[in-house]
Amino acid sequence: MEITLTAPLDMHLHLRDGDMLRLTAPLSADFAGAVIMPNLVPPVRTPEQLRAYAERIDDAMDGAPFMRLMTLFFAPQSEAQLLAAQATPEFFAYKLYPAGITTNSEGGLADMAQAEPTLRLMEELGIPLLVHGESHGFVLDREAEFLTVYRTLAERFPRLKLCMEHITTAAALQLLDEYPSLCATVTLQHLLITLDDVAGGALRPHLFCKPLAKRPEDREALLAAALGGHPRLFFGSDSAPHPRHKKECCGCAAGVFTAPLALPKLAELFAAHGAAERLQGFVSDNACRYYGLQPPPRRVTLCDTPMQVPPLYRGYGQSVVPMAAGECIGWSIKR
Ligand code: DOR
Ligand code: ZN
Repeated sequence: MEITLTAPLDMHLHLRDGDMLRLTAPLSADFAGAVIMPNLVPPVRTPEQLRAYAERIDDAMDGAPFMRLMTLFFAPQSEAQLLAAQATPEFFAYKLYPAGITTNSEGGLADMAQAEPTLRLMEELGIPLLVHGESHGFVLDREAEFLTVYRTLAERFPRLKLCMEHITTAAALQLLDEYPSLCATVTLQHLLITLDDVAGGALRPHLFCKPLAKRPEDREALLAAALGGHPRLFFGSDSAPHPRHKKECCGCAAGVFTAPLALPKLAELFAAHGAAERLQGFVSDNACRYYGLQPPPRRVTLCDTPMQVPPLYRGYGQSVVPMAAGECIGWSIKR
């Protein structure tokens, strides 16, 4: 069996910088494009920094045609700043992190009320806002608590293109259905695992990410929405590479590295559920329709020939352990 995808997109990707970028960029090159996260150290805050980062990504991609949809780290902006961002061809959206909520987000927003004048302008200008939606409450309740913020924003700014990034709960899906202006991304791991897989037995650091994987009923709801072709639910891997020594240690960094196996694993998952024809919408068409994107029409064919996931990806002095390291996946990319 085969599935041919046109312009698969990863709507939430961490490529990092420097040697890690050089290792990970080519491992995402089967996608036609991706939304690139700005949480570098220091974060990508200005159009100049954004353009320079986009150039470093192009260099690291080594010629693969790849539409990088660049994001700026959100802080309150003047209209002139928003217009300058919008005039930057590589710019796609702002990414808002509550201060200190995850990796390299210390410079994020401390008080949502400060964002409102900027969000009003973004709504008028048609600039999308992508949000890491977690509160600072009890770790399993953080997303559920943040839903009230999303609700307030959707009510106050009904035309703002607002993306709930990497949703992990059935409650977030309900909110998505309530407000047609909202969209959401979901990761591969949150379609496949629950908290039991992370911490129910021996701790599995390579499955530890923020937000944490939740309950079986949450995973089931997310999977049903993805397989059922929810028109405002997009694939966003949140593939977040960290060096092996920062994962296999005391104080494990949050992030699951899935980029190189995401498409084969998604194909396996959708085919196993008899939903192969829905994959195109999930990995490309839904996002293109919502944002008005026109990615290069690159085609990728997936086939049910098994692939062995390497135990480790190595290069440029970096080592990263992927999800499903050393395991066999039933599908692969046809080269
Ligand atoms: O697990 C995560 N890792 N969640 C995030 O929000 C950030 C990401 C990272 O940058 O490592
Ligand atoms: Zn992320």
